[in-house]
Amino acid sequence: MISSDLRSQFPILDTQVHGRQLVYLDNAATTQKPLRVINALDSYYRTLNSNIHRGAHYLATEATERYEVVRRQVQAFIHARHHHEIVFTRGTTESINLVASSFSRRFFTGSDEVIVSGMEHHSNIVPWQLAGASLRPIPFSDEGILDLDAYEKLFSPRTRIVAVNHVSNTLGTVNPVADIIRIAHNHGVPVLVDGAQAISHLAVDVQALDCDFYCFSGHKMYGPMGVGVVYGREEILNELPPYQGGGEMIENVTFEQTTYNQLPFKFEAGTPSVGDVIALGEAISFMNEVGIENIAAQEDRLLRYATERILQIPGVRIFGTAPRKTSVLSFLVGDAHPYDVGTLLDQLGIAVRTGHHCTQPIMDRYGIPGTVRASFAVYNTPEEVDALMNALERILPMLQ
Ligand code: ALA
Repeated sequence: MISSDLRSQFPILDTQVHGRQLVYLDNAATTQKPLRVINALDSYYRTLNSNIHRGAHYLATEATERYEVVRRQVQAFIHARHHHEIVFTRGTTESINLVASSFSRRFFTGSDEVIVSGMEHHSNIVPWQLAGASLRPIPFSDEGILDLDAYEKLFSPRTRIVAVNHVSNTLGTVNPVADIIRIAHNHGVPVLVDGAQAISHLAVDVQALDCDFYCFSGHKMYGPMGVGVVYGREEILNELPPYQGGGEMIENVTFEQTTYNQLPFKFEAGTPSVGDVIALGEAISFMNEVGIENIAAQEDRLLRYATERILQIPGVRIFGTAPRKTSVLSFLVGDAHPYDVGTLLDQLGIAVRTGHHCTQPIMDRYGIPGTVRASFAVYNTPEEVDALMNALERILPMLQ
């Protein structure tokens, strides 16, 4: 069980909305931030703000060192072999766009297929389409389980990469990414894992997974918005051309020709989000101190309890019932439109997400317009699950 001390580190959780205590259950969209993250941002702009890797003066040197310390923190957090395999971006979306853009310029030949899962977020679909690929989606069952036999049959001589999420933001399924990667590598095909929804719930070891790329955002792991990560295996990152051109990603520039900087700077053009990166370091320290196994245990308890309780409400259908799930409860109440349910819950102080969750192909698969999604973080409590269920029972008559 979490302590009240942990919860009190998140000032926003005391907020009142519509005259009621906020019950924040939209953590898959973004987690709230502990004071140490907020303070790190504040302190950065009060005492350290400076551009990095550029100045010889004290602030620039200090900011650079703090930024690079976080790179090593991220390396340790996801068990990467080298710190230069960690590239900072603005978020998972930019991370996947970086890989799709650079990878396609290096490896696409004009007739290229990318295997994705049928349950991808749009940000792991559209960048590949922009790169010119035809997508081959892995189908999934009604429970939300990927069909690995069907997956094997999707490989062709035109398959360039497999791009799958570790955890579905809509169904909560924890996908068997280690198996997916092993199968892809047997075909000589690299794999990108979208870890946006996994990074705050599961221990991630990129070397044990053997993935080629792993992408995630700071803001879904108690850190600030505006920072994300691409982990890329050294050998493959060295093969890729830069994503964006600009300051700091170069070695030498003339009007005739430019040579590029070494890893990871080749992929970090322009001024990065220095304060956000430093604050991300505080978020990682927070997660390390709580312990990912304790975070996962708390969220699993909440998900189990919420699932049990919601099934007692007449007319509720859950989307995503795989045995391996984390932190996400997507549902519909009778024929009610998810937006109506979300709006009524909001009036009672309960924050959930409604709609297609940027996964329209999942909605098409089930033939529904969207779902209501409650998603949990380590600071949530069983009492908040009760508040959601009591609110659902209360609004039920208004939905019929
Ligand atoms: N991708 C985020 C979500 O699932 C925003 O809500």
